[in-house]
This record gives sequence, C-alpha cells and structure tokens, in this order.
Amino acid sequence: LAQVTTLRLGGPARTLVEETDEESLIERIGLADETDEPVLLVGGGSNLVIADDGFDGLVALIRTRGIDVREDGPDGVLVTAQAGENWDDLVARAVSEDWVGIEALSGIPGSVGATPIQNVGAYGQQVADTILSVRAYDRRTRRVGELTNAQCEFSYRDSLFKRDPRRYAVLSVTFRFSVGDLSMPIGYRELAASLGAAIGERTPLQRVRRAVLDLRRGKGMVLDAEDHDTWSAGSFFTNPILDADAAASLPDDAPRFPQPDGRIKTSAAWLIDHAGFAKGYGTERVRLSTKHALALTNRGSATTEQLLDLAREVRDGVEKRFGVRLVNEPVLVGAEL
Ligand code: EPU
Repeated sequence: LAQVTTLRLGGPARTLVEETDEESLIERIGLADETDEPVLLVGGGSNLVIADDGFDGLVALIRTRGIDVREDGPDGVLVTAQAGENWDDLVARAVSEDWVGIEALSGIPGSVGATPIQNVGAYGQQVADTILSVRAYDRRTRRVGELTNAQCEFSYRDSLFKRDPRRYAVLSVTFRFSVGDLSMPIGYRELAASLGAAIGERTPLQRVRRAVLDLRRGKGMVLDAEDHDTWSAGSFFTNPILDADAAASLPDDAPRFPQPDGRIKTSAAWLIDHAGFAKGYGTERVRLSTKHALALTNRGSATTEQLLDLAREVRDGVEKRFGVRLVNEPVLVGAEL
C-alpha cells in the first residue's frame, strides 16, 4: 500500500480494488460487510499511516469522477463532486469560475470525498463552511442517504464520519459557493501578511490561491516527488484545544487562539519545536520536515514502525515538557501510537 499513500508507507492489502463506479463500490462494501471482511477506503492516501503488516481485508481505492454544477439563485452555485475527484483540481476550478469559499484550501493533497471526514481546513477556511450536504452509503442500514451539514456534526478536524469510521462511505459532496471574484474575508494572519491585506479584507481569488500555494510550499506541504520534506501526511498532530487553566500554565510566548467556547487552541508545531524537537529532528530515515516541525517525513526508506517511534518520542517529549498530550491527526491503520 506504500504506492497509494503520500508517506509511501504501508504493507500489502489482502485485496486491492479500484472503484470508478459508485454502484460497484457499494456492492463491494456490502459483500465485504456480509462476510465480516475488514474494509479500508482510500482516497488520495494523504492522511493515512498504514502498518508495515499492511491491511488484511478489502482496500478500495475511490476513483469515482464527475462534477455537477447548478445555479442557486442569482449569486450562488451548488457544486456536487464525486468522492474520487481530486481536491485541488476542484479548488483550481472554483477559483477560475469565481466560486468563492475554498480558495484558501489550495494545494491540499487528497480527494474530495475525504474532506468532510476530518473537516479539512487551512488558512482560515474549512470545508464545513461551504459543504451543504454529503451523500454517503450507510453500512449499518445498507442505504444511501444525504446528510445535511448539521448532521455531519463538524468541528475542528472532526466530524460524525471520523468518530464512527466504520459506518459511512462518502459518495459525493455538495458545496454551496457564492459567486464573485473576491475571496472570503481573509481570516489567517500569516496569509493576510503575505497578501499585504488586513484580516477581514477580501482579495482576488487567484491571488489568494497563489499566496496559499507559496506558503504551503515554504512549509513542505505541497507534494513533490523530488522533495522528501513533502513525503508526509501533512500535520501529524492536531493543535491541542485546552481549558483555560491548562493554557495558563504554558509559557507566555506560546501561541494562544481563543475558541468560541472559551477554551484556548495552541500550536502543536510550537510545542514540538520548544520541547527540543527542531525542524529536521530525527534519523536518516524518518525526521521532522526541515520546513515544519509538525510534519513527520519518510526520507525514502523508512518503515511505518520507525515513523511511529519518532511520533511517540515527540508526543512523549512534549507531554513531559508542557503536560500536553498530542493526538495524531492522520488515520492510523493497523497501528497505534
Ligand atoms: N511553528 C513552530 N515551528 C514550526 C512551525 C510552526 O514553532 O516548525 C509555530 C509558529 O509559532 C506558527 C504556529 O506554529 O505561528 C502555527 O504554524 P502554522 O501557521 O504553520 O499552522 P499549524 O497550526 O502548524 C495548521 C494546520 C495545517 C494548515 C495550517 C495553515 C492543523 C493540525 N494543522 O497548521 O493543516 O495547513 O494550519 O492553516 O490544524 C493538516 O491538517 O495536515 C495541515 C497541514
């Protein structure tokens, strides 16, 4: 399975199928469920850490394609993309067609169908802001249904789908975009700075896309086969959200982002960096990206176990130094931290 993950890690699958057709995908999953065969659905493989032993079950690569566009009033469009569509192709199209709302999510590897699962977000946007509904096959009821945005129960890097990972197969996602040539108000300081704009300002969609791609490239977060700094699953840990007391015990210069519920989000990258794991920390085979402390990278010949060893060392070091236990962001398959 190393060939289907951006980390280029993971042992063999018992059975590997590529599904370009929704009916056939549903049938396969149904059959596997009847015989209690484990199922792993793989989109772009950019958020997966698969054990060296591989996966003893059915691995289905989701390769369904198609994008349907309908007008929604004078200033809106409803865009339904099949799960197997490439995410960044959709963003590029949105930017060129003046669909507003996912421009800051440029350059994220992976497929459309994966985005609702962990409510993909970056640079002040998250897919929950534009998703109208998600069509999914429910393996419990064996029916296809449409979940509204509220039913998806989105929060920071989380959703119903992530909390109940064996229940749904996402088939397609419907977004509602407004139409215009200016972006949503810029909500991320670093992005605003690179655009020379103020927080809350709107700037042309194309400029936002270009600025985000540049920022991501600078952090090794745009896939490049030649650059081992990009052989990762993106951020390896979520940013911890702490209650006020726990946040107060962090050093004064730790990043603090107050949340609507009164809790405080801090930065996993900062904690890692300041616990003694600088960018590039690690061994010849696995190390933190030299461009961003939050990405764990395979330098070409790593095993999953070596990557997880580094992850454990970082998690334990941060906990010892700051009393905060980091939680992995990518999905671990057949493995635990
Ligand atoms: N920092 C360090 N050392 C580093 C890198 C960053 O100390 O090596 C500190 C800096 O203080 C910086 C802060 O960490 O200001 C935050 O860094 P950054 O702006 O790069 O964002 P992040 O919180 O590390 C999150 C997402 C990314 C997303 C960026 C931009 C999570 C877990 N990660 O990273 O998402 O691209 O913001 O919005 O929420 C992903 O989920 O895979 C991912 C890459």
